[in-house]
Amino acid sequence: MAQANIYIDTNRVISTISPLLFSGFAEHMGRCIYEGIYDPASPHADEHGLRRDVLAALHDLNLRSIRYPGGNFLSGYCWEDGIGPKDQRPRRRDLAWKSIETNQFGTDEFLHFCGELNTEPMLGVNMGTGSIQDAANLVEYCNGPVGTRYGDRRARHGHADPYGVKYWCVGNEMDGPWQIGHLDAVEYGKKAREAAKMMRWHDPSVALVLCGSSNSEMPTYPEWDRTVLELCWDQVNYHSMHYYAGNWDGDTDSYLALSAEFENFVDTLTGVLRYVKARCRSKHDVYLSWDEWNVWYKDRSGDGRWTEAPHLSEEVYNLEDALVVAQWLNVFLRKSDVLKIACIAQIVNVISPITTSRDSLLKHTTYYPLLFFSKLAAGIALDVNVKSPTYQTKKFGEMPLLDVSSSYDEANNMQAIFIVNRSQTRSVTAELHWQDRTPEAIRAAHQLSAPDSKVFNSFENPNRVVPTQITAPRLDGQSAILELAPLSFTALEVKL
Ligand code: AHR
Repeated sequence: MAQANIYIDTNRVISTISPLLFSGFAEHMGRCIYEGIYDPASPHADEHGLRRDVLAALHDLNLRSIRYPGGNFLSGYCWEDGIGPKDQRPRRRDLAWKSIETNQFGTDEFLHFCGELNTEPMLGVNMGTGSIQDAANLVEYCNGPVGTRYGDRRARHGHADPYGVKYWCVGNEMDGPWQIGHLDAVEYGKKAREAAKMMRWHDPSVALVLCGSSNSEMPTYPEWDRTVLELCWDQVNYHSMHYYAGNWDGDTDSYLALSAEFENFVDTLTGVLRYVKARCRSKHDVYLSWDEWNVWYKDRSGDGRWTEAPHLSEEVYNLEDALVVAQWLNVFLRKSDVLKIACIAQIVNVISPITTSRDSLLKHTTYYPLLFFSKLAAGIALDVNVKSPTYQTKKFGEMPLLDVSSSYDEANNMQAIFIVNRSQTRSVTAELHWQDRTPEAIRAAHQLSAPDSKVFNSFENPNRVVPTQITAPRLDGQSAILELAPLSFTALEVKL
């Protein structure tokens, strides 16, 4: 049995936690939109064609924002195809995923969907085949007053009042040669800057997200980031990061230590942000938006063979994937001073914590860490001091067995503590020490765990890996002892 100590002090503050860290991403890809969010033929569909069971599962996740419509799809998307009477919308070939796009779901349907979920929309503008004029027109359509060309079109479609969409992504992964209309950093930086100016002139209150590197393995990383930021610094508010993780070589010990890589990615970009801010002699700040993140390696299918709603990248998540997701969320809290938006990619069917069939809905293992963070992490992130036994990994050397984060919400005096035990074999006895408080009670302790890192849920066996409420550790003044099973994620709710 390994022993660890976790020291908590509510004076050791990292930052206020941005609620947008618990956001999602929906793309016109595979069965995310069609058969996922929107499926008028489903027995679960409401009068707008939205699947009620999907709405309910997403509602519980309480995603604060949803990014849409892509992704690679965005860079070939003509947004005007997706508005107006449905019977007049064109069927098109989507070149990103080699699929047929029916355009039955578009901007108005998405904004209605966001309204149902009470979530902030985050719209993307096409910087691949789209012009800066198209980008500005979409802002006018969503946020402009009536009495203008696009404001009037919106009103004709039943929405006289502007939607007031605040968050906008200026393109998607424009550094990637796979991207439709891919640009080099200077070309993209200049185009994004000009698009941003026009978008802001339509609505000065918009918050803009610039395309950062598609991942930290890109040959142009992090030079791409420096270049585009220097060109756009004062015009944008966020800089995007994307990253998909995988246990490609079956090295579970290293896979379970991936938070080291996530932190490194954030730290490098934090350095770039500081450098560019100084270089631009600016008082303006730009924050990070990790607007695509998830595990994605078992099903990388991306060729829809020119069909509607093909089954693409329907990854099935096991316990070790959920532990990686939990560490990602730990990193979001630990880096909450610079990271302000994060969108799990994606929210239904495609690399998602939720999969639908015609009649039912499955929650994968990864649904649960997201659920607990989204529900419990609020207020400020605390800089927790962890003394943990270590283990050896091939990729990251010596790593602590425990990965920990914590939040404290002064409004209701509630603290949350999130702990991953990375060990595949060793239980850890963790002693929690509250250094500046005597907690009133540990209200609940939830744990997601199983003896085998590869177990997963399926439609036949949907409850193989679900969280259980374990006995809350007994408080002894300012400390408590908690048993952490191997391969476990634990969330504690503490009344301070
Ligand atoms: O989420 C799937 C794809 O991954 C997105 O379309 C793209 O932005 C990324 O490469």
